[in-house]
Amino acid sequence: MNITLLSGNPKQDGLCQSVIDAAIRGAKAGGVSVSEIRLCDSRLIRCQVCDDGWGTCRDQNICSFGSDGFTQIQTSLKQADVLIFATPVYWGETSEALKSFLDRLRRCEFGSQGALSGKQALLIASAGGSGNGIITCLHQLEQFCRHTDMAIFDRFGINRWNHDYQAPAIESAARALAEGRVCGETIQLEN
Ligand SMILES: Cc1cc2nc3c(=O)[nH]c(=O)nc-3n(C[C@H](O)[C@H](O)[C@H](O)COP(=O)(O)O)c2cc1C
Repeated sequence: MNITLLSGNPKQDGLCQSVIDAAIRGAKAGGVSVSEIRLCDSRLIRCQVCDDGWGTCRDQNICSFGSDGFTQIQTSLKQADVLIFATPVYWGETSEALKSFLDRLRRCEFGSQGALSGKQALLIASAGGSGNGIITCLHQLEQFCRHTDMAIFDRFGINRWNHDYQAPAIESAARALAEGRVCGETIQLEN
């Protein structure tokens, strides 16, 4: 199995990275090493909104400007079995790096014909001071998954007063995915 984590986090440490590391640890415990793609380390352009609104994204599933590094990342994501999306919450949304990348990717991979269709996704939003904006950020990630026909396995909202119990839950979720658990499977209750 191949699990790829797409990160919108600009930092190498702190709260958001701690839960990214928890997800990677969990997958590893389940026998899968995770490829982490840090979008803030690249300098990708935004969608150029070609022609009247669509470009080669619509018919060829590629971005005409993909040589900026976009196509390489798109290829990695297409090859993954499971995707983990992780971002700090900025203005109640994903970080700008993740947002502008997903804008381009959605155009290339929309609908049930896209290469992301049916893949499982784990969504992680890490908020700061107020903790506000987690829901809207997760909603934004959900919308991306709906547009690309991905299967959302779980969603996590982290802040500075819940990470002690959320980080282990993320670790467990990533482990369960690595071990092959799928959306819709019924786990027997332990009474
Ligand atoms: C531009 C910007 C906007 C932010 N907007 C929010 C927000 O809407 N809600 C919130 O709770 N935190 C917000 N934060 C705080 C980040 O979510 C927080 O720094 C990060 O998720 C977790 O902390 P970390 O830096 O230790 O990883 C914002 C931070 C920045 C830089």
